Amino acid sequence: MEIAIIGGTGVYDPKILNNIREQWIPTPYGIVHCKSGEYAGKEVAFIPRHGSNHSIPPHLINYRANIWAIKKLGVQNIIATTAVGSLNPDMKPGEFVVIDQFLDFVKNRTTTFYEGGERGVVHVDVTTPYCPSIRNVMFEAAKELSIPFHQQGTYVCTDGPRFETPAEIKMYAKFGGDVVGMTNVPEVVLAREAEMCYATVSMVTNFAAGISPQPLTHHEVLETMQANTENIKRLILATIEQ
Ligand code: HPA
Repeated sequence: MEIAIIGGTGVYDPKILNNIREQWIPTPYGIVHCKSGEYAGKEVAFIPRHGSNHSIPPHLINYRANIWAIKKLGVQNIIATTAVGSLNPDMKPGEFVVIDQFLDFVKNRTTTFYEGGERGVVHVDVTTPYCPSIRNVMFEAAKELSIPFHQQGTYVCTDGPRFETPAEIKMYAKFGGDVVGMTNVPEVVLAREAEMCYATVSMVTNFAAGISPQPLTHHEVLETMQANTENIKRLILATIEQ
């Protein structure tokens, strides 16, 4: 297995791959259901982060099991998709952001594989949390497909599942956040701990609370995502191909 895709909101369908087969991968954190297939002569694993019918909310995703399973498959490279709200007026709904930093505002999640005991205590370096080589390939792929994208952005991760208050969004913006989502921490951190190359492309689905003139709904998020699913698929496939 060469590459894994972790599909976020709106990206549940592994049909972009050929010769799909299902796997149930046991991990110390539970069993992970994964669909694997081929694309451009490469073996690709696919895990929909929220389950195949969006039944798992962000705070209940088994992040450690997912990353462990991918590592167990022998995969070195992970391409993830994430739906985000935007705090940055330059990053508009429908646009892509190839995230390069994060701000961790999660409170109720285990964000490490290293809890002492046999595995010991490890302090992983996250100076460059997102893999520069996959990000560069994404840039090339997006340019080739003429898909507009932002080359960097800071992802603020909240617990959810509620959306944020306008006061929180104001604070995150002051802290340097560009987009806000509910899943990238601990996913990116665990991938770093597992010494894998991880990158995420974020799709802006809405302006965040207080920036958007109307209250947010999950429907709005899904609608924008659906309208841009083709582009996100094209971008991921072109990234795999390179
Ligand atoms: N906030 C948090 N997560 C999100 C948002 C948002 O506005 N949009 C999509 N995912």
